[in-house]
Amino acid sequence: MWDTFKRLPDTIARTVTQSLSGRLLLFTIAFVMLAEALLYFPSAARFYHDQLANRLAAAQIAVLALDQGDAQTLSPQLKAELLANAGVRAVALKRNNTRRLYLAESMPPVISLSIDLRDVTLVGLTLYALDSMAMGDGRVLRIIGKPRLQGGEFIEAIVDERPIREELLAYSGRIFELSLFISIVTASLVFATLYFTLVRPMQRLTQSMVSFQEKPEDAHRIIVPSQRDDEIGQSERVLATMQSEIRQALQQREHLVALGSAVAKIQHDLRNILASAQLASDRLAASNDPAVRQLAPRLMKSIDRAIALATNTLKYGRAEEAPAHRGRQPLLPLAEEAMHVALAAGDGHAIWRSEIPPDLEVDADGEQLLRMLANLGRNAVQAVEARPDGQVTISARRQGDGVAIDVSDNGSGIPEQVLKHLFEAFAGRGRVGGTGLGLAIARELARGHSGDVVMLRTGPEGTTFRVTIPDSPKTG
Ligand SMILES: Nc1ncnc2c1ncn2[C@@H]1O[C@H](COP(=O)(O)OP(=O)(O)O)[C@@H](O)[C@H]1O
Ligand SMILES: [Mg+2]
Repeated sequence: MWDTFKRLPDTIARTVTQSLSGRLLLFTIAFVMLAEALLYFPSAARFYHDQLANRLAAAQIAVLALDQGDAQTLSPQLKAELLANAGVRAVALKRNNTRRLYLAESMPPVISLSIDLRDVTLVGLTLYALDSMAMGDGRVLRIIGKPRLQGGEFIEAIVDERPIREELLAYSGRIFELSLFISIVTASLVFATLYFTLVRPMQRLTQSMVSFQEKPEDAHRIIVPSQRDDEIGQSERVLATMQSEIRQALQQREHLVALGSAVAKIQHDLRNILASAQLASDRLAASNDPAVRQLAPRLMKSIDRAIALATNTLKYGRAEEAPAHRGRQPLLPLAEEAMHVALAAGDGHAIWRSEIPPDLEVDADGEQLLRMLANLGRNAVQAVEARPDGQVTISARRQGDGVAIDVSDNGSGIPEQVLKHLFEAFAGRGRVGGTGLGLAIARELARGHSGDVVMLRTGPEGTTFRVTIPDSPKTG
Protein backbone atom coordinates (compact mmCIF):
# COMPACT_ATOMS: atom_id res chain seq x y z
CA MET A 1 0.00 0.00 0.00
CA TRP A 2 2.70 2.43 1.09
CA ASP A 3 4.77 1.32 -1.87
CA THR A 4 2.00 2.15 -4.29
CA PHE A 5 1.68 5.51 -2.64
CA LYS A 6 5.43 6.12 -2.85
CA ARG A 7 5.43 5.29 -6.54
CA LEU A 8 2.51 7.61 -7.23
CA PRO A 9 4.57 10.68 -8.24
CA ASP A 10 6.54 8.47 -10.63
CA THR A 11 3.37 7.09 -12.13
CA ILE A 12 1.89 10.53 -12.59
CA ALA A 13 5.11 11.83 -14.12
CA ARG A 14 5.16 8.93 -16.55
CA THR A 15 1.52 9.42 -17.53
CA VAL A 16 2.03 13.12 -18.06
CA THR A 17 5.19 12.77 -20.12
CA GLN A 18 4.19 9.70 -22.10
CA SER A 19 0.55 10.19 -22.94
CA LEU A 20 -0.48 12.49 -25.72
CA SER A 21 -2.79 14.49 -23.45
CA GLY A 22 -0.15 14.91 -20.73
CA ARG A 23 2.44 16.15 -23.18
CA LEU A 24 -0.12 18.46 -24.67
CA LEU A 25 -0.76 19.99 -21.25
CA LEU A 26 2.94 20.50 -20.55
CA PHE A 27 3.59 22.04 -23.94
CA THR A 28 0.64 24.43 -23.67
CA ILE A 29 1.76 25.66 -20.24
CA ALA A 30 5.33 26.05 -21.47
CA PHE A 31 4.33 27.97 -24.59
CA VAL A 32 1.94 30.30 -22.79
CA MET A 33 4.66 30.99 -20.19
CA LEU A 34 7.06 31.73 -23.01
CA ALA A 35 4.63 34.19 -24.55
CA GLU A 36 4.17 35.83 -21.14
CA ALA A 37 7.94 36.06 -20.66
CA LEU A 38 8.31 37.77 -24.01
CA LEU A 39 5.68 40.30 -22.92
CA TYR A 40 7.29 40.70 -19.49
CA PHE A 41 10.64 42.14 -20.64
CA PRO A 42 9.31 45.26 -22.36
CA SER A 43 6.82 45.90 -19.57
CA ALA A 44 9.55 45.59 -16.92
CA ALA A 45 11.65 48.05 -18.92
CA ARG A 46 8.77 50.48 -19.11
CA PHE A 47 8.08 50.16 -15.40
CA TYR A 48 11.75 50.79 -14.59
CA HIS A 49 11.75 53.84 -16.85
CA ASP A 50 8.66 55.24 -15.15
CA GLN A 51 10.25 54.77 -11.77
CA LEU A 52 13.33 56.69 -12.82
CA ALA A 53 11.28 59.43 -14.54
CA ASN A 54 9.12 59.82 -11.41
CA ARG A 55 12.25 60.34 -9.33
CA LEU A 56 13.43 63.01 -11.72
CA ALA A 57 10.06 64.77 -11.64
CA ALA A 58 9.96 64.67 -7.82
CA ALA A 59 13.53 66.00 -7.70
CA GLN A 60 12.58 68.84 -9.96
CA ILE A 61 9.61 69.82 -7.82
CA ALA A 62 11.89 69.88 -4.78
CA VAL A 63 14.39 72.04 -6.65
CA LEU A 64 11.60 74.45 -7.60
CA ALA A 65 10.76 74.95 -3.96
CA LEU A 66 14.42 75.48 -3.11
CA ASP A 67 14.76 78.05 -5.86
CA GLN A 68 11.98 80.33 -4.60
CA GLY A 69 13.05 83.88 -4.01
CA ASP A 70 13.02 83.61 -0.25
CA ALA A 71 14.51 80.12 -0.21
CA GLN A 72 17.77 81.50 1.07
CA THR A 73 16.04 81.83 4.42
CA LEU A 74 15.32 78.08 4.59
CA SER A 75 17.46 76.22 7.07
CA PRO A 76 19.86 73.60 5.61
CA GLN A 77 17.97 70.99 7.60
CA LEU A 78 14.70 71.87 5.93
CA LYS A 79 16.39 71.86 2.50
CA ALA A 80 17.76 68.40 3.12
CA GLU A 81 14.34 67.22 4.22
CA LEU A 82 12.72 68.54 1.07
CA LEU A 83 15.15 66.51 -1.04
CA ALA A 84 14.90 63.42 1.11
CA ASN A 85 11.11 63.54 0.77
CA ALA A 86 11.48 63.51 -2.98
CA GLY A 87 13.62 60.36 -2.58
CA VAL A 88 16.78 61.99 -3.92
CA ARG A 89 20.16 62.53 -2.33
CA ALA A 90 21.30 65.29 -4.64
CA VAL A 91 20.04 67.19 -7.65
CA ALA A 92 21.90 69.22 -10.26
CA LEU A 93 20.03 71.48 -12.65
CA LYS A 94 21.60 73.26 -15.58
CA ARG A 95 19.73 76.33 -16.60
CA ASN A 96 20.86 79.49 -18.43
CA ASN A 97 24.38 78.09 -18.67
CA THR A 98 24.73 77.69 -14.92
CA ARG A 99 24.71 74.39 -13.16
CA ARG A 100 23.40 74.37 -9.63
CA LEU A 101 23.86 71.54 -7.20
CA TYR A 102 21.44 70.85 -4.36
CA LEU A 103 22.61 68.39 -1.73
CA ALA A 104 20.65 66.54 0.88
CA GLU A 105 23.85 65.81 2.79
CA SER A 106 27.17 67.50 3.27
CA MET A 107 29.15 65.24 0.87
CA PRO A 108 27.97 64.19 -2.60
CA PRO A 109 27.67 60.36 -2.61
CA VAL A 110 29.80 58.06 -4.81
CA ILE A 111 27.88 57.17 -7.97
CA SER A 112 27.74 53.53 -9.09
CA LEU A 113 25.86 53.94 -12.39
CA SER A 114 24.59 56.74 -14.64
CA ILE A 115 21.46 56.33 -16.75
CA ASP A 116 20.66 58.97 -19.31
CA LEU A 117 16.93 58.86 -19.98
CA ARG A 118 17.27 61.19 -22.95
CA ASP A 119 18.71 58.63 -25.33
CA VAL A 120 18.14 55.19 -23.84
CA THR A 121 16.57 52.48 -26.02
CA LEU A 122 14.02 49.87 -25.02
CA VAL A 123 16.67 47.14 -25.16
CA GLY A 124 19.00 49.29 -23.04
CA LEU A 125 16.25 49.87 -20.50
CA THR A 126 15.48 46.14 -20.39
CA LEU A 127 19.14 45.40 -19.66
CA TYR A 128 19.25 48.15 -16.98
CA ALA A 129 16.11 46.71 -15.36
CA LEU A 130 17.53 43.16 -15.32
CA ASP A 131 20.84 44.47 -14.01
CA SER A 132 19.05 46.39 -11.29
CA MET A 133 17.14 43.32 -10.11
CA ALA A 134 20.31 41.23 -10.12
CA MET A 135 22.76 43.60 -8.41
CA GLY A 136 21.05 46.92 -7.74
CA ASP A 137 20.99 46.45 -3.98
CA GLY A 138 22.95 49.28 -2.28
CA ARG A 139 23.93 51.08 -5.47
CA VAL A 140 23.71 54.82 -6.04
CA LEU A 141 22.23 55.92 -9.37
CA ARG A 142 22.62 59.10 -11.30
CA ILE A 143 19.59 59.75 -13.51
CA ILE A 144 19.93 62.31 -16.24
CA GLY A 145 16.91 63.69 -18.08
CA LYS A 146 15.30 66.67 -19.69
CA PRO A 147 13.65 68.99 -17.18
CA ARG A 148 9.91 69.22 -17.63
CA LEU A 149 9.12 72.38 -15.74
CA GLN A 150 10.44 75.88 -16.48
CA GLY A 151 12.92 74.83 -19.14
CA GLY A 152 16.55 74.23 -18.42
CA GLU A 153 18.98 72.05 -20.34
CA PHE A 154 19.18 68.98 -18.19
CA ILE A 155 18.53 67.78 -14.73
CA GLU A 156 20.48 65.14 -12.81
CA ALA A 157 19.16 63.35 -9.76
CA ILE A 158 21.25 61.14 -7.53
CA VAL A 159 19.17 58.46 -5.88
CA ASP A 160 19.49 55.24 -3.95
CA GLU A 161 18.65 52.30 -6.16
CA ARG A 162 17.29 50.07 -3.38
CA PRO A 163 13.67 51.36 -3.28
CA ILE A 164 13.49 51.37 -7.08
CA ARG A 165 14.76 47.85 -7.19
CA GLU A 166 12.26 46.75 -4.57
CA GLU A 167 9.39 48.25 -6.55
CA LEU A 168 10.67 46.51 -9.67
CA LEU A 169 10.93 43.16 -7.87
CA ALA A 170 7.43 43.51 -6.46
CA TYR A 171 6.13 44.43 -9.89
CA SER A 172 7.85 41.38 -11.42
CA GLY A 173 6.39 39.15 -8.73
CA ARG A 174 2.90 40.43 -9.53
CA ILE A 175 3.46 39.92 -13.24
CA PHE A 176 4.74 36.40 -12.59
CA GLU A 177 1.70 35.48 -10.52
CA LEU A 178 -0.58 36.92 -13.14
CA SER A 179 1.26 35.08 -15.92
CA LEU A 180 1.07 31.84 -14.06
CA PHE A 181 -2.64 32.33 -13.57
CA ILE A 182 -3.16 33.24 -17.23
CA SER A 183 -1.04 30.29 -18.40
CA ILE A 184 -2.94 27.84 -16.29
CA VAL A 185 -6.29 29.18 -17.44
CA THR A 186 -5.21 29.31 -21.11
CA ALA A 187 -3.49 25.95 -20.94
CA SER A 188 -6.56 24.37 -19.39
CA LEU A 189 -8.79 25.86 -22.07
CA VAL A 190 -6.48 24.84 -24.90
CA PHE A 191 -6.00 21.46 -23.31
CA ALA A 192 -9.71 20.88 -22.83
CA THR A 193 -10.41 21.86 -26.42
CA LEU A 194 -7.67 19.67 -27.82
CA TYR A 195 -8.55 16.85 -25.49
CA PHE A 196 -12.12 16.68 -26.68
CA THR A 197 -11.45 17.36 -30.34
CA LEU A 198 -8.22 15.38 -30.76
CA VAL A 199 -6.99 13.25 -27.90
CA ARG A 200 -10.27 11.54 -27.06
CA PRO A 201 -11.07 10.63 -30.69
CA MET A 202 -7.48 9.42 -31.12
CA GLN A 203 -7.85 7.26 -28.05
CA ARG A 204 -11.05 5.88 -29.51
CA LEU A 205 -9.22 5.04 -32.76
CA THR A 206 -6.36 3.38 -30.91
CA GLN A 207 -8.68 1.44 -28.65
CA SER A 208 -10.66 0.22 -31.61
CA MET A 209 -7.48 -0.96 -33.35
CA VAL A 210 -6.28 -2.77 -30.26
CA SER A 211 -9.57 -4.45 -29.54
CA PHE A 212 -10.10 -5.35 -33.21
CA GLN A 213 -6.62 -6.86 -33.36
CA GLU A 214 -7.47 -9.08 -30.41
CA LYS A 215 -10.57 -10.51 -32.07
CA PRO A 216 -10.93 -9.46 -35.69
CA GLU A 217 -13.78 -11.85 -36.38
CA ASP A 218 -16.04 -9.96 -33.93
CA ALA A 219 -18.11 -7.52 -36.01
CA HIS A 220 -18.92 -5.42 -32.93
CA ARG A 221 -15.30 -4.38 -32.66
CA ILE A 222 -15.41 -2.51 -35.95
CA ILE A 223 -15.35 1.22 -35.21
CA VAL A 224 -18.54 3.20 -35.86
CA PRO A 225 -17.35 6.36 -37.61
CA SER A 226 -18.59 9.71 -36.27
CA GLN A 227 -20.12 12.38 -38.51
CA ARG A 228 -16.99 14.56 -38.46
CA ASP A 229 -15.56 15.55 -41.81
CA ASP A 230 -12.09 16.49 -40.63
CA GLU A 231 -9.00 14.24 -40.58
CA ILE A 232 -10.23 12.35 -37.53
CA GLY A 233 -13.54 11.57 -39.19
CA GLN A 234 -11.62 10.50 -42.29
CA SER A 235 -9.38 8.18 -40.28
CA GLU A 236 -12.41 6.68 -38.56
CA ARG A 237 -14.10 5.96 -41.86
CA VAL A 238 -10.92 4.51 -43.40
CA LEU A 239 -10.35 2.40 -40.30
CA ALA A 240 -13.93 1.13 -40.40
CA THR A 241 -13.57 0.14 -44.06
CA MET A 242 -10.22 -1.48 -43.41
CA GLN A 243 -11.54 -3.43 -40.45
CA SER A 244 -14.52 -4.80 -42.33
CA GLU A 245 -12.30 -5.73 -45.27
CA ILE A 246 -9.87 -7.52 -43.00
CA ARG A 247 -12.73 -9.31 -41.31
CA GLN A 248 -14.07 -10.47 -44.67
CA ALA A 249 -10.64 -11.54 -45.86
CA LEU A 250 -10.12 -13.52 -42.67
CA GLN A 251 -13.48 -15.18 -43.06
CA GLN A 252 -12.69 -16.04 -46.64
CA ARG A 253 -9.33 -17.42 -45.62
CA GLU A 254 -10.99 -19.62 -43.04
CA HIS A 255 -13.38 -20.94 -45.64
CA LEU A 256 -10.53 -21.59 -48.04
CA VAL A 257 -8.59 -23.43 -45.37
CA ALA A 258 -11.63 -25.60 -44.64
CA LEU A 259 -12.16 -26.18 -48.34
CA GLY A 260 -8.48 -27.00 -48.76
CA SER A 261 -8.49 -29.63 -46.08
CA ALA A 262 -11.64 -31.16 -47.56
CA VAL A 263 -9.93 -31.34 -50.95
CA ALA A 264 -6.85 -32.85 -49.36
CA LYS A 265 -8.99 -35.58 -47.79
CA ILE A 266 -10.71 -36.31 -51.07
CA GLN A 267 -7.37 -36.43 -52.88
CA HIS A 268 -5.99 -38.74 -50.29
CA ASP A 269 -8.87 -41.18 -50.67
CA LEU A 270 -8.68 -40.82 -54.42
CA ARG A 271 -5.05 -41.91 -54.36
CA ASN A 272 -5.95 -45.09 -52.51
CA ILE A 273 -8.78 -45.79 -54.93
CA LEU A 274 -6.45 -45.22 -57.86
CA ALA A 275 -3.85 -47.51 -56.34
CA SER A 276 -6.34 -50.39 -56.35
CA ALA A 277 -7.39 -49.47 -59.89
CA GLN A 278 -3.71 -49.72 -60.84
CA LEU A 279 -3.52 -53.20 -59.37
CA ALA A 280 -6.61 -54.23 -61.32
CA SER A 281 -5.20 -52.90 -64.57
CA ASP A 282 -1.98 -54.86 -63.99
CA ARG A 283 -4.14 -57.94 -63.91
CA LEU A 284 -5.90 -56.84 -67.10
CA ALA A 285 -2.54 -56.65 -68.87
CA ALA A 286 -2.08 -60.31 -68.16
CA SER A 287 -5.52 -61.23 -69.55
CA ASN A 288 -5.88 -63.86 -72.25
CA ASP A 289 -8.27 -61.71 -74.23
CA PRO A 290 -6.17 -59.64 -76.68
CA ALA A 291 -8.78 -56.86 -76.80
CA VAL A 292 -8.61 -56.47 -73.03
CA ARG A 293 -4.80 -56.61 -73.10
CA GLN A 294 -4.74 -53.78 -75.62
CA LEU A 295 -6.82 -51.56 -73.35
CA ALA A 296 -4.56 -52.05 -70.38
CA PRO A 297 -1.71 -49.61 -71.30
CA ARG A 298 -4.16 -46.75 -71.92
CA LEU A 299 -5.90 -47.43 -68.68
CA MET A 300 -2.53 -47.49 -66.92
CA LYS A 301 -1.57 -44.14 -68.40
CA SER A 302 -4.84 -42.52 -67.33
CA ILE A 303 -4.46 -43.85 -63.83
CA ASP A 304 -0.84 -42.65 -63.69
CA ARG A 305 -1.98 -39.16 -64.65
CA ALA A 306 -4.73 -39.22 -62.05
CA ILE A 307 -2.25 -40.27 -59.39
CA ALA A 308 0.15 -37.50 -60.43
CA LEU A 309 -2.70 -34.98 -60.21
CA ALA A 310 -3.68 -36.14 -56.74
CA THR A 311 -0.08 -36.19 -55.49
CA ASN A 312 0.88 -32.79 -56.89
CA THR A 313 -2.27 -31.10 -55.61
CA LEU A 314 -1.63 -32.50 -52.16
CA LYS A 315 1.97 -31.29 -52.21
CA TYR A 316 0.98 -27.83 -53.40
CA GLY A 317 -1.74 -27.56 -50.77
CA ARG A 318 0.75 -28.19 -47.99
CA ALA A 319 2.88 -25.30 -49.27
CA GLU A 320 5.92 -26.57 -47.50
CA GLU A 321 8.56 -25.57 -50.00
CA ALA A 322 11.91 -25.59 -48.21
CA PRO A 323 14.01 -22.45 -48.54
CA ALA A 324 16.61 -22.65 -51.30
CA HIS A 325 20.01 -24.07 -50.32
CA ARG A 326 22.09 -22.34 -52.89
CA GLY A 327 25.51 -23.17 -54.22
CA ARG A 328 27.54 -22.55 -57.38
CA GLN A 329 27.38 -25.43 -59.79
CA PRO A 330 27.67 -26.10 -63.51
CA LEU A 331 24.33 -25.69 -65.29
CA LEU A 332 24.79 -28.16 -68.13
CA PRO A 333 24.52 -31.48 -66.24
CA LEU A 334 21.51 -30.15 -64.37
CA ALA A 335 19.76 -29.20 -67.62
CA GLU A 336 20.55 -32.62 -69.08
CA GLU A 337 18.95 -34.35 -66.14
CA ALA A 338 15.89 -32.09 -66.28
CA MET A 339 15.42 -32.82 -69.98
CA HIS A 340 15.76 -36.50 -69.32
CA VAL A 341 12.83 -36.24 -66.91
CA ALA A 342 10.89 -34.01 -69.31
CA LEU A 343 11.30 -36.26 -72.36
CA ALA A 344 9.81 -39.15 -70.42
CA ALA A 345 6.51 -37.23 -70.38
CA GLY A 346 6.31 -37.22 -74.18
CA ASP A 347 5.70 -39.90 -76.75
CA GLY A 348 9.34 -40.20 -77.74
CA HIS A 349 9.31 -38.08 -80.88
CA ALA A 350 10.87 -34.94 -79.51
CA ILE A 351 14.58 -34.23 -79.51
CA TRP A 352 16.33 -31.60 -77.42
CA ARG A 353 19.29 -29.39 -78.08
CA SER A 354 21.58 -27.69 -75.59
CA GLU A 355 23.05 -24.25 -76.18
CA ILE A 356 24.57 -24.03 -72.75
CA PRO A 357 28.28 -23.18 -72.44
CA PRO A 358 29.83 -26.14 -70.57
CA ASP A 359 31.64 -23.82 -68.14
CA LEU A 360 28.52 -21.75 -67.24
CA GLU A 361 27.84 -21.89 -63.52
CA VAL A 362 24.64 -21.01 -61.74
CA ASP A 363 24.18 -20.07 -58.08
CA ALA A 364 21.09 -22.05 -57.12
CA ASP A 365 19.53 -24.89 -55.19
CA GLY A 366 20.23 -27.76 -57.61
CA GLU A 367 17.15 -29.76 -56.70
CA GLN A 368 14.82 -26.79 -57.12
CA LEU A 369 16.40 -25.58 -60.35
CA LEU A 370 16.03 -29.13 -61.70
CA ARG A 371 12.32 -29.01 -60.93
CA MET A 372 11.90 -25.60 -62.58
CA LEU A 373 13.62 -26.77 -65.77
CA ALA A 374 11.82 -30.13 -65.73
CA ASN A 375 8.45 -28.36 -65.51
CA LEU A 376 9.28 -26.00 -68.39
CA GLY A 377 10.86 -28.86 -70.38
CA ARG A 378 7.83 -31.10 -69.83
CA ASN A 379 5.48 -28.38 -71.08
CA ALA A 380 7.69 -27.88 -74.13
CA VAL A 381 7.84 -31.60 -74.86
CA GLN A 382 4.07 -31.86 -74.52
CA ALA A 383 3.67 -28.86 -76.85
CA VAL A 384 5.63 -30.52 -79.67
CA GLU A 385 4.07 -33.96 -79.23
CA ALA A 386 1.94 -33.69 -82.36
CA ARG A 387 4.85 -32.70 -84.60
CA PRO A 388 7.21 -35.14 -86.22
CA ASP A 389 10.06 -32.58 -86.09
CA GLY A 390 9.47 -31.52 -82.46
CA GLN A 391 12.47 -29.86 -80.91
CA VAL A 392 13.20 -28.31 -77.52
CA THR A 393 16.17 -25.98 -77.04
CA ILE A 394 17.72 -24.87 -73.78
CA SER A 395 20.10 -21.94 -74.01
CA ALA A 396 21.71 -20.02 -71.21
CA ARG A 397 24.06 -17.11 -70.64
CA ARG A 398 25.32 -14.83 -67.95
CA GLN A 399 23.24 -11.68 -67.72
CA GLY A 400 24.36 -8.98 -65.30
CA ASP A 401 24.74 -10.54 -61.87
CA GLY A 402 22.94 -13.74 -62.73
CA VAL A 403 22.09 -16.38 -65.27
CA ALA A 404 19.23 -16.37 -67.78
CA ILE A 405 18.03 -19.76 -69.04
CA ASP A 406 15.66 -19.95 -72.03
CA VAL A 407 13.54 -23.02 -72.77
CA SER A 408 12.13 -22.86 -76.33
CA ASP A 409 10.08 -25.22 -78.42
CA ASN A 410 8.69 -25.22 -81.93
CA GLY A 411 5.19 -26.19 -80.82
CA SER A 412 2.05 -24.36 -81.81
CA GLY A 413 2.01 -21.82 -78.98
CA ILE A 414 -0.08 -21.29 -75.89
CA PRO A 415 -3.84 -21.10 -76.49
CA GLU A 416 -5.44 -17.69 -75.94
CA GLN A 417 -7.64 -18.68 -73.00
CA VAL A 418 -4.72 -20.32 -71.20
CA LEU A 419 -2.53 -17.20 -71.57
CA LYS A 420 -4.81 -15.13 -69.35
CA HIS A 421 -4.17 -17.32 -66.29
CA LEU A 422 -0.82 -18.71 -67.31
CA PHE A 423 0.99 -18.69 -63.98
CA GLU A 424 -2.04 -19.19 -61.74
CA ALA A 425 -2.22 -22.50 -59.92
CA PHE A 426 -5.04 -24.75 -61.18
CA ALA A 427 -6.45 -21.93 -63.31
CA GLY A 428 -3.94 -21.90 -66.15
CA ARG A 429 -4.24 -25.37 -67.51
CA GLY A 430 -4.82 -26.10 -71.12
CA ARG A 431 -4.37 -29.85 -71.25
CA VAL A 432 -6.65 -32.64 -70.22
CA GLY A 433 -4.92 -34.34 -67.34
CA GLY A 434 -2.79 -31.29 -66.49
CA THR A 435 -2.96 -29.70 -63.06
CA GLY A 436 -2.05 -26.19 -64.08
CA LEU A 437 0.51 -26.32 -61.31
CA GLY A 438 3.76 -26.65 -63.27
CA LEU A 439 4.31 -22.98 -64.12
CA ALA A 440 3.00 -21.76 -60.76
CA ILE A 441 5.49 -23.98 -58.93
CA ALA A 442 8.36 -23.07 -61.27
CA ARG A 443 7.72 -19.37 -60.71
CA GLU A 444 7.43 -19.80 -56.93
CA LEU A 445 10.77 -21.65 -56.83
CA ALA A 446 12.49 -19.03 -59.01
CA ARG A 447 11.15 -16.21 -56.84
CA GLY A 448 12.53 -18.05 -53.84
CA HIS A 449 15.89 -17.39 -55.52
CA SER A 450 14.97 -13.68 -56.00
CA GLY A 451 14.60 -14.57 -59.67
CA ASP A 452 11.56 -15.19 -61.89
CA VAL A 453 10.04 -17.24 -64.68
CA VAL A 454 8.47 -15.30 -67.54
CA MET A 455 6.99 -16.16 -70.92
CA LEU A 456 9.13 -14.39 -73.54
CA ARG A 457 7.17 -15.18 -76.70
CA THR A 458 4.57 -17.56 -77.99
CA GLY A 459 3.00 -18.08 -81.38
CA PRO A 460 2.57 -20.60 -84.21
CA GLU A 461 6.40 -20.92 -84.45
CA GLY A 462 6.72 -21.94 -80.84
CA THR A 463 7.12 -20.72 -77.30
CA THR A 464 10.01 -19.51 -75.13
CA PHE A 465 10.06 -19.30 -71.33
CA ARG A 466 12.91 -17.63 -69.46
CA VAL A 467 14.18 -18.47 -65.99
CA THR A 468 16.40 -15.84 -64.36
CA ILE A 469 18.51 -16.76 -61.34
CA PRO A 470 20.46 -13.84 -59.85
CA ASP A 471 23.60 -14.71 -57.90
CA SER A 472 22.94 -14.70 -54.18
CA PRO A 473 24.19 -11.51 -52.56
CA LYS A 474 27.72 -11.82 -51.19
CA THR A 475 27.67 -11.97 -47.43
CA GLY A 476 30.46 -10.52 -45.33
N1 LIG B 1 5.67 -24.48 -74.09
C1 LIG B 1 4.33 -24.44 -74.13
N2 LIG B 1 3.69 -24.46 -75.32
C2 LIG B 1 2.33 -24.42 -75.37
N3 LIG B 1 1.54 -24.35 -74.28
C3 LIG B 1 2.12 -24.33 -73.08
C4 LIG B 1 3.54 -24.37 -72.94
N4 LIG B 1 3.84 -24.31 -71.63
C5 LIG B 1 2.63 -24.26 -70.97
N5 LIG B 1 1.63 -24.28 -71.85
C6 LIG B 1 0.20 -24.21 -71.53
O1 LIG B 1 0.08 -23.74 -70.20
C7 LIG B 1 -0.68 -24.63 -69.41
C8 LIG B 1 -0.22 -24.63 -67.99
O2 LIG B 1 1.01 -25.26 -67.83
P1 LIG B 1 1.44 -25.82 -66.45
O3 LIG B 1 1.33 -24.72 -65.46
O4 LIG B 1 2.76 -26.48 -66.59
O5 LIG B 1 0.32 -26.83 -66.07
P2 LIG B 1 0.06 -28.28 -66.74
O6 LIG B 1 1.22 -28.61 -67.55
O7 LIG B 1 -0.12 -29.15 -65.55
O8 LIG B 1 -1.21 -28.10 -67.52
C9 LIG B 1 -0.52 -25.96 -70.10
O9 LIG B 1 -1.63 -26.77 -69.85
C10 LIG B 1 -0.44 -25.56 -71.56
O10 LIG B 1 -1.71 -25.41 -72.12
MG1 LIG C 1 3.20 -28.57 -67.05
